[in-house]
Amino acid sequence: MALSSTQTDHLRRVDAIGDPPARPTLVPAERYHSPAFAQLEVERMWPRVWQVACTVDHVAEPGDYFEYRCGPYSVLIVHGDDGVLRAFQNACRHRGNALCTGAGSSLRELKCGYHGWTWDLAGALKRIPNRKGFGTVHMSEFPLAPVQVDTWERLVFVNLDTSAMPLADYLEAVPTDIAWCGLGDFRCYATMTIAVDANWKTIADGYSETYHVQTLHPELHRCMDDVYAPQMIWGHTGKSESLYGVPSPRLSGALSDEEVWDAYVYTQGPLMGVAEGTPFPRDQQGAGQSVADVIAAQIKQFAAGRGVDIDWATTDQVMRLHQYNVFPNMTFLASADHLTVMTSLPGPDPDRGELVMTLMTRMPAQAPRTRPADVHMSAADAHPGVVMSQDIAVLTGLQRGMHQPGFTHLVLSSEERRIINMHRNLERYLDLPEAERISEAAAGG
Ligand code: FES
Ligand SMILES: [Fe+2]
Repeated sequence: MALSSTQTDHLRRVDAIGDPPARPTLVPAERYHSPAFAQLEVERMWPRVWQVACTVDHVAEPGDYFEYRCGPYSVLIVHGDDGVLRAFQNACRHRGNALCTGAGSSLRELKCGYHGWTWDLAGALKRIPNRKGFGTVHMSEFPLAPVQVDTWERLVFVNLDTSAMPLADYLEAVPTDIAWCGLGDFRCYATMTIAVDANWKTIADGYSETYHVQTLHPELHRCMDDVYAPQMIWGHTGKSESLYGVPSPRLSGALSDEEVWDAYVYTQGPLMGVAEGTPFPRDQQGAGQSVADVIAAQIKQFAAGRGVDIDWATTDQVMRLHQYNVFPNMTFLASADHLTVMTSLPGPDPDRGELVMTLMTRMPAQAPRTRPADVHMSAADAHPGVVMSQDIAVLTGLQRGMHQPGFTHLVLSSEERRIINMHRNLERYLDLPEAERISEAAAGG
C-alpha cells in the first residue's frame, strides 16, 4: 500500500515520548484522595484559575443567565440588557442566599428569593425592603461581588480572582495554534455532565496522554497513530496531535484498508454520518488515495449535507486531532469538523467528581440560535460512545487503587508529560513546600 503525502509527512514527525528522561517522575498518590489536599485546592487553586464555565450559546441573549459551580463555588454569568456579559459571585449581600440556580432567560433583575434585596443585571443594588431597619445604608455599599469573565471563540471562561492575568495571556499559544480551524463557527448543542467516582485529576489525566490507547482502546488503536503523536507544552497549556484513519504504527502492515475503515466506523462513525457495519467504499478510493483520504471525503460530504462547507480543509486538517490541555481541568479536541470540550470538576469529596462534555458542531453562519440541551447522568447511565465509555469505565478502579497503602506514587513517563506539567502548575498555585514537590525517582537498581 503506497503512503499518501499526508502519511509520509507524518512519519517524519517526532513521537509522543520525545527525549526520554533519566528516570521516571513520581507524583504522591495522596494528591488524588487526601481531603486536606482537596481543601488546599479549594482555597488556593480553584479561586485563582480561568475555568471554562459554559458557551456563548448558553447566554446568547440579554436576560440569559447561567450558574457555574465548581466545588463550593457558584458563579452567576449574566447577559446584561446592555449586551455586556458579566459574572458575579452567586451570593446575596444580605445573608448570602444564592440568587439563581441553573440556567434560564428573560431575567430583568436579580432579586433574592429570601428577603427581596434586588440588583440590576450590572450588579448594582436597587432595592432593600424595609430599608429603614438597617439605619443609614447606601446602595453603593453592596454591589454583587464581580467575577472576571471573558470569552475565547464561543467558550465563556470565568476567574474568581479579579486580579488574575487576562484570559488571552492565560491561554498562551493555544488561540494562535488553532486559528486555522475557525472554532468560532462551532455552536454548542448539548452539555453532558457525568457523575463519576473519581477525583477531578483522575478524570483529567485520561485526557492528557495517548499512552493508554494501545491497551484501553484496542479498536481505536487500529485507526489512529498513537506513536508519532508529538506533544507540546507552553506553560498553563499544552497539546498533542494524532492522525486518525491510519493504523497505529505498532500494527503497521498487519491491517488492510478495510480493517482500518471498520475500526474508524466502529469508534467514530457518527463523525462521517456512517452507520456501524457500513463496508469500506473501495469504489470511492481514487488512485493513490489512503483510507484517511476516503474518510476525510466522507466527512466533508456529511458536513455539506448540514450546509457546512469544509472543502477548504486538507485530509490532514480533517483527520489530525489536536488535543489541547488548559490548566487545570479543561481539554478540547479539535479538527476541521470536530470540537468537543471536556472539563472535570471536583465533587463533594476527593473520591468523587464530574466529567462535563461540551458537544459542539460546526454550523452555517446564518443558523438560528438554539439553546443547548443540558443533560446530567450517572456513569452507569452514560453511553457517550465506545471510546469515551472505556475512558469512564476505568476511573473507579483507578481511584480505588490510589488508596491502597502500598501505592504511594504515580510513576510517570515523558509520554505522560502533560500530566506532569499539570502537577507542576498545581504545586505552584498551592505553594507547596519543596519537600512536597514532585521529583524524579532516585537512581535505583
Ligand atoms: S438573604 Fe437575600 S435578601 Fe436576605
Ligand atoms: Fe482514552
